[in-house]
Amino acid sequence: MSLPVPHRILVLGGGGREHALAWKLAREGGVDEVVVAPGSAGIAREPGVRCVDVDPLDPPAVAALAVAEAVDLVVVGPEAPLGAGVVDALDAAGIPAFGPTLAAARMETSKAFCHAVAARAGVAMPRAASFAAGETEAALAFVRELDGAGRRAVLKADGLAAGKGVIVSDSLEQALGLVPSFLAGRSADVPALVVEERLEGPEASVIAICDGTRAVAFPAARDHKRLCDGDAGPNTGGMGAYSPLPDLDDAAVDAVVDAVHRPILAELARAGTPFRGFLYAGLILTVAGPVLLETNVRLGDPEAQAILPRLDTDLAPLVLAAATGALPPDVPGRLPVTDEATVAIVLAAHGYPGHPRRGDPIEGLESAEAAGALVFHAGTVARRRSEGGFATNGGRVLAVVGRGPDLAGARDAAERAADAISFDAAQRRHDIAADAPAAPAALAAGPAR
Ligand code: AMP
Ligand code: GLY
Repeated sequence: MSLPVPHRILVLGGGGREHALAWKLAREGGVDEVVVAPGSAGIAREPGVRCVDVDPLDPPAVAALAVAEAVDLVVVGPEAPLGAGVVDALDAAGIPAFGPTLAAARMETSKAFCHAVAARAGVAMPRAASFAAGETEAALAFVRELDGAGRRAVLKADGLAAGKGVIVSDSLEQALGLVPSFLAGRSADVPALVVEERLEGPEASVIAICDGTRAVAFPAARDHKRLCDGDAGPNTGGMGAYSPLPDLDDAAVDAVVDAVHRPILAELARAGTPFRGFLYAGLILTVAGPVLLETNVRLGDPEAQAILPRLDTDLAPLVLAAATGALPPDVPGRLPVTDEATVAIVLAAHGYPGHPRRGDPIEGLESAEAAGALVFHAGTVARRRSEGGFATNGGRVLAVVGRGPDLAGARDAAERAADAISFDAAQRRHDIAADAPAAPAALAAGPAR
């Protein structure tokens, strides 16, 4: 399989996921330069990478930058530029862009749309119903109906909520009490609240490169969304990730792509809104098999920091092929990976996820790198030249990735590297990949349908 290589690539975004993407792409054969907009001073230190101060949420500015930099490919990191229509603008300008159009990005921006597509595609999701303002009584009745069937309710605000619009209820009273707040002040003609049955099991992320019809999967990863050890504390964007998953092996990943990604691609193509981009399936591994909880239309953060270093193949040619709808028919279903496991630990600022403090000097970055860990910058800023080094500048500050022959080795390497880095009142978990579950027997049955 010999595919054209993009020589100049523009990556949109400036967080840890985009640092990992730029790091991976810039080291690949035939890639001359990776431009990142806006990137960050930490990302700009990467060899072969240059950052430019252009707003990724401004589609005409992004298209102009892509032309001025003569890039062969644009790769979109976060969801916000996709929701701003950046791929539609690049398509109109004839520039290959990897990410869904606005219409296909609704798989992430609307939970009700995701449920509707999954239902038409025959993809298993939790039982759910969506409600608009004025439908409070119907929503309360559905919560009671789930309770009658022995299920707690999960309440989800429709629309992009950066992971913060989800309440996993513990009691009927709690769910009933919260329903009105999800519907208050929302418009009556669009769904505002999705009520789902609550399922139990470990979660997993399976992300695939999609070209509209074909899908090639990354290795599975597991995010840790709560702030504190033991899954305590508030939800965050993600405090750490690891790969591979002992409880979702290669055959299980293949089964997920067959049961989730490919049917969704077929349905979106049938509807005239084909999906090109990273399709992220957020799964819950129930005793009856994996069930789709949500789709995102981008790489996960911090999953990307854990899975990109495991790839034993160049990403750029595949992404360019997928961006133009031309993954080869004989492309393997899974990307080849090295034998190494990875563990990514996020270091977060004081006050995250509520009101992160900025400006704390960061020590020990060199020692962490010297110990063999990868250090991806998420929320950092260069200090004044006279001071040197970096300071905190956002909620999630860094992701430190340890590699090893197995998860235990990778975890040791990541813990040692994270220990080497310090800034005032840093927050981090110490249990990333510590309790990786063994394979549950039910997974042999494949995804729930
Ligand atoms: P979402 O944004 O839909 O992925 O939800 C955020 C988090 O809420 C998920 O990662 C799960 O931890 C939890 N969650 C969402 N839906 C459910 C569900 N139906 N059952 C159990 N937990 C859920
Ligand atoms: N780590 C979860 C996400 O990127 O949505």
